[in-house]
Amino acid sequence: MCGIVGYIGSQNASDILIDGLKKLEYRGYDSAGVAVFAGNDIEVVKSKGRLADLEKKMEEVGKPQGFCGIGHTRWATHGEPSDINSHPHSSAHVSLVHNGIIENYLPLRQMLQGDGYVFQSETDTEVVVNLIDSFYHGDPLEAIREAVLRLEGSYALGIIFEGETDKVYAVRKDSPLIIGLGKGENFIASDIPAILGHTRDYYLLEEGEIAVLTRDHVEISDIYGNHVEKEVQTATWDLEAAQKGGYPHFMLKEIHEQPTAFHNTVSPRIVDGLPNFACDKICDEDLRRFERVVVVACGTAMHSGYVGQYLIERLARLPVTVEIASEFRYKNPILNRDKDLVIIVSQSGETADTLAALRLAKKQGVFVLGIVNVVGSSIAREADAVIYTWAGPEIAVASTKAYTVQISVMYLLAIKFAMLRGFADEAFAREYTSNLMSVEEHIAEILKDSQSFQFYASKLQNAHDLFYLGRGLDYALAMEGSLKLKEITYIHSEAYAAGELKHGPISLIVDGTPVIALGTQKSLFEKMASNIKEVKSRGACVFLICDDTCENTAQIADFVIKLPALPEIFMPLLSVAPLQLLAYYTSILRGCDVDKPRNLAKSVTVE
Ligand code: F6R
Repeated sequence: MCGIVGYIGSQNASDILIDGLKKLEYRGYDSAGVAVFAGNDIEVVKSKGRLADLEKKMEEVGKPQGFCGIGHTRWATHGEPSDINSHPHSSAHVSLVHNGIIENYLPLRQMLQGDGYVFQSETDTEVVVNLIDSFYHGDPLEAIREAVLRLEGSYALGIIFEGETDKVYAVRKDSPLIIGLGKGENFIASDIPAILGHTRDYYLLEEGEIAVLTRDHVEISDIYGNHVEKEVQTATWDLEAAQKGGYPHFMLKEIHEQPTAFHNTVSPRIVDGLPNFACDKICDEDLRRFERVVVVACGTAMHSGYVGQYLIERLARLPVTVEIASEFRYKNPILNRDKDLVIIVSQSGETADTLAALRLAKKQGVFVLGIVNVVGSSIAREADAVIYTWAGPEIAVASTKAYTVQISVMYLLAIKFAMLRGFADEAFAREYTSNLMSVEEHIAEILKDSQSFQFYASKLQNAHDLFYLGRGLDYALAMEGSLKLKEITYIHSEAYAAGELKHGPISLIVDGTPVIALGTQKSLFEKMASNIKEVKSRGACVFLICDDTCENTAQIADFVIKLPALPEIFMPLLSVAPLQLLAYYTSILRGCDVDKPRNLAKSVTVE
């Protein structure tokens, strides 16, 4: 939700800021803006729309020329996307950019109005800029400290002060912020890709820390003004990983990166043919005591939890519940600190509801294991233990490779629990890991056939409603397939457990309604085939995804997508890529913005 950047150095600040914002546009793209010191004056250019609209405006009104500034790309929360509501926001002495939500902005706004401040926008951010201004009597740090003490909610702020032409200030709470460390130049950014073109070294700003950046120095202090010593982090991602690398869209690139992401995530955790979490500093004793698993996450990450639920319950006979983070955090969940393991799944490691769920579980003394992609993110830092998924940066808003590596970790956890609980012996576990490792080449094989998916997409592109059906693990996959399609094509779609269909939704099937039927679970195929016949006889156009040993499929389906046959438990790892490609190509055919679908943002740091 919103991306912020800041720069102080000897290059053209507007160019550096725009370049950084391009890498963060996945965080929001309703509007964008920059504030740059042009001499002693702060020049602000901002515009509703995409960064391209801001660049166009800069061509018209002139690009601010200077060496120090801040920038923002917005996902609107308070106030519609408009020029006025765009960031940076400014007061008499201060300009700032903000990622997060100020919860007590209304009383603060009233207080400031009482002091004579006049508000231009509907945003919570304008309250922050005026609040800092109200405490500014020549000492920027003092003004920031006084202001943040009064703020409730989440914020990462980049701030510049009139007259302080060679300084950028930054502070954060519950929203991510890093400080990029260059040579003769320094940066602030919401995420690593924004600085990778300039440096791989950075500081992670902790809650409540305030940074002052000059060209040659970064000074960090706590809220009381005490100096804070920081350790320099080095990004493991390179610039190439954060760029499209010849693909037309990040989503397609990330779909194609799945074999590598899978390999990087799984292979370090198989030692001598057996699952092993030593690289995550998790030993068997840490896992043995649990009698229940609660997976908490949002969206695609939550869907990975459903795959985990089927796997862990089936292999290890360990009960698993899957919780929507935004529900879990407010339902006063029943947790047992001695017996429950809470698994928090998140690509970004910054999702507000997921982070809040983690904090709630920790507060109740429950052990929290994070499955996280972004190293050093809030969830990774706050969890008791972390299993990093090594997918590399995921830029497209629709999650693809992150899901595949999340479920890969579930496969490893399931067999580990099964061994610890005596439901799998070594021989079984070895065969399992060997099947698991074979998945990499099968995914690569599936990805070679883009033409068929373009063809199938052409059959879906004019649909109004779509249904995804499956049983068991296929149902878990159906949920993800349906989400992927609806979020990037804007076609309404629903996922149903196939057996549930005749309890209501089958009334929606009419002549030509496309149904994506997942039939990869051999033990359930007969049941699935009956459900397919039920929709077919009501006019549905059926796309069947099954393995290549399935026979007579032409009799039940209109189109058949055959996958290499593995034992059914591993089939989700193979059926996910076809579902992603169907969504991708349908989105292209409908002329949608694949990487940046409307109303969405990559990192949902507000609740
Ligand atoms: C869908 C998608 C979202 C995210 C969800 C959680 O394609 O990407 O549903 O999965 O917002 O995000 P993370 O995993 O960053 O916590």
